[in-house]
Amino acid sequence: MESRTEEMTVLIVGSGGREHAIAASVKKSPRVSKIYCIPGNAGIAELGEIVPDIKAMEFDRITEFAKSHEVDLVIVGPDDPLVGGLVDELEAAGLKAFGPRRNAAMLEGSKAFSKDLMKKYHIPTAEYEVFTDAASALKYLESASLPIVLKADGLALGKGVLICNTLDEARNGVKTIMLDKKFGTAGNRMVIESFLKGREVSVLSFCDGKTIKPMPSAQDHKRAGDGDTGLNTGGMGAFSPSPFYTKKIADECKKLIFQPTVDALRAEGIDFKGIIFFGLILTEDGPKVLEYNARFGDPEAQVVLPRMKNDIIEVIEACLDGKLHKVKLEFEDNAAVCVVLASEGYPVKYSKGYPITGLEAFNGRDGYYCFHAGTKKSPKGIITDGGRVLGVTAKGPDLRQARANAYEAIQWVDFQNKYYRKDIGKAIDEA
Ligand code: GLY
Repeated sequence: MESRTEEMTVLIVGSGGREHAIAASVKKSPRVSKIYCIPGNAGIAELGEIVPDIKAMEFDRITEFAKSHEVDLVIVGPDDPLVGGLVDELEAAGLKAFGPRRNAAMLEGSKAFSKDLMKKYHIPTAEYEVFTDAASALKYLESASLPIVLKADGLALGKGVLICNTLDEARNGVKTIMLDKKFGTAGNRMVIESFLKGREVSVLSFCDGKTIKPMPSAQDHKRAGDGDTGLNTGGMGAFSPSPFYTKKIADECKKLIFQPTVDALRAEGIDFKGIIFFGLILTEDGPKVLEYNARFGDPEAQVVLPRMKNDIIEVIEACLDGKLHKVKLEFEDNAAVCVVLASEGYPVKYSKGYPITGLEAFNGRDGYYCFHAGTKKSPKGIITDGGRVLGVTAKGPDLRQARANAYEAIQWVDFQNKYYRKDIGKAIDEA
């Protein structure tokens, strides 16, 4: 593909492990000479210049920054600014931005929208109903089968999905979402859907509005504790590829889910340019969509992007130019495992501000990455600054070796109250 801008300046919006993984991929592009990140973290600061004073939802300030710093491309990482319309605002100011516009980010921003889209275009997903008042939702529950899944319609920091095993739990769930408004206005509407049994797989894919190209599969570990116990988190680790996502299943997904989703969006007049993240479940009746996200997954990006051989800038430009069909996505024929190092007590109550030691052990170590999530620089050096602190990723020729490498590498770094799951990637033993 023809390079139009050399010495590019790229601005990444976000501050987590996902954005660090994106920044690491951008840094590899020979076309990029300067990276900014708003607000960024201490790890991203090693790859470019971070702007901690501006926050991801301060659209005017981000736009002003991008213009005054002659940014050639903005990559928006997190869901909130995408759903809020940051890309629309950047484009209106004449800037180039990667990520879906507000109307396309609805795919993630409204569960009711995405479920209705799937129903209308026959994309396999769980049976569901949408409710705008608690009384109707409660009435519906009386004759529903258990377990049942309740979903707040809007964004809820990944916490708006409740799996209820008893009628009482489900009634309480409706109260929590619609009456107590635990997830704020995200709970003005809710989806109630049947519970599906199967193994979960995440597939991130580039999309130019017409063509969709999936990346290798991954699997997240959402619960805080070993054996998938405890509270839901932003993700405690991931592995890629998923051994359960066979070539046959991948072909089925391409035919029945991936392309039909893009075609459905087009048919609705929506031009989705960005990343579509398919949260899939492999059921006895075939793969089905649990949810869509409109961005790279976190921590999935931390195991998928390090394996990508393409120049990410070339792929992003192809998406923006509607030329993704000309790109051959290429990934290393290996595996990667990411173990998240969190602060004890996450996701409820945890302390911050502890010095992190051993980060230099990753310097110059091929196949090992220490992606920062909640870190910042201080006079004491780099300190913990969040619940999820670091994502340690290691590659290997296969999943078992990658897992062994990742668990070795987490010992290189330390901080007070370091907590991690001991069973990331354990599922691969069942494959
Ligand atoms: N790993 C799930 C997510 O990024 O939403």
